[in-house]
Amino acid sequence: MPAERLRAFAPGRVNVIGEHTDYNDGLALPFAIADGVTVEATAAPAVDAAKALEAQALDLGERDCFPLHAPTPAEGWRGFVRGAAAELAAAGCPLSGGRLEIAGSVPRGAGLSSSAALEVALCLALIELGARAGRPRTDTALDKLALARLCSRVENEWTGANTGLLDQIASLFGAPETALCIDFRALSIEQVPLALGGWRFAVADSGDRHVHASSGYNDRRRECALACELLGIGSLRDARAEQLGALPEPLRRRAEHVLAENERVLAAVAALGAGDPARLGELLNASHASLRDLYEVSTPAVEAAVTRMLGAGAAGARLIGGGFGGSVLGLFAAGVPLPGDALEVRPGAGAHISTS
Ligand code: GLA
Repeated sequence: MPAERLRAFAPGRVNVIGEHTDYNDGLALPFAIADGVTVEATAAPAVDAAKALEAQALDLGERDCFPLHAPTPAEGWRGFVRGAAAELAAAGCPLSGGRLEIAGSVPRGAGLSSSAALEVALCLALIELGARAGRPRTDTALDKLALARLCSRVENEWTGANTGLLDQIASLFGAPETALCIDFRALSIEQVPLALGGWRFAVADSGDRHVHASSGYNDRRRECALACELLGIGSLRDARAEQLGALPEPLRRRAEHVLAENERVLAAVAALGAGDPARLGELLNASHASLRDLYEVSTPAVEAAVTRMLGAGAAGARLIGGGFGGSVLGLFAAGVPLPGDALEVRPGAGAHISTS
């Protein structure tokens, strides 16, 4: 590998439990997975007066090129690249022209957070490219939480998906053998050892693809904001169960899911601490029922995938991510074979740069 080439890797994530809680100042328990997005970056020759950034999506065989000083919005993966450059520049991060080659091992739209993996890998690559051109790093480059927020802005402002911080934090803070208990109000992250005593997590793709910007995801956010407005509170973290009866449907159902899901995250952390994976399985099932019946983000294909998991002997199974398609997570006792379409997932390292 030539000296000026660098590689940034950012993982996708699996969320054990705590769905649609991040933008409600709630709790979640994700872990980073081994699959993710890799961005290889090469500095542009010094003669490159336009300081252009050229990007190639290797899996799609597509290319983009834009001037660093004035990226304009674009559709699909190009919007992420341009957004990453623009948001880093707006945060005062010095950028340098170059070429980016993007390759991913997380299927897009499968609920394993391919978008956050792309944002995080792009940002790390661009920050490092600027640093290697001799430009000083900024606080955003050093502070992982600030970087998670910046990556979330890329998704919100440049791709139209009003997603929260769950995926970016999981990708940046992930660590082997560890889940992260995130409190989105305090913005605190506690490492929780994922000691399962031989039990295994596995994911299966429902086959239904989702795009947050056009699925019901943004509608759910609006419903939660409206529920808060009606209750006169800043976020659903401040809601009490006995207040929820005052809300019209479907806002009551949405809020009920969020409150109970936060409790399930705490119960899941306790079950892990007590070495009780069977209890964790029950909590996954309860989370799924709530996402299906109260939050209404499941689809027939997702239900079929959950049924396949449970039919194969999973102690618990649920949809993960935003819903409206994507993947299903199952928890299997030691010795129970995984169904043919399921892949084992384990917590892996968080996003990082590897040097040549
Ligand atoms: C998507 C979003 C996250 C989070 C989940 C639901 O993955 O990107 O911010 O809201 O859905 O928990």
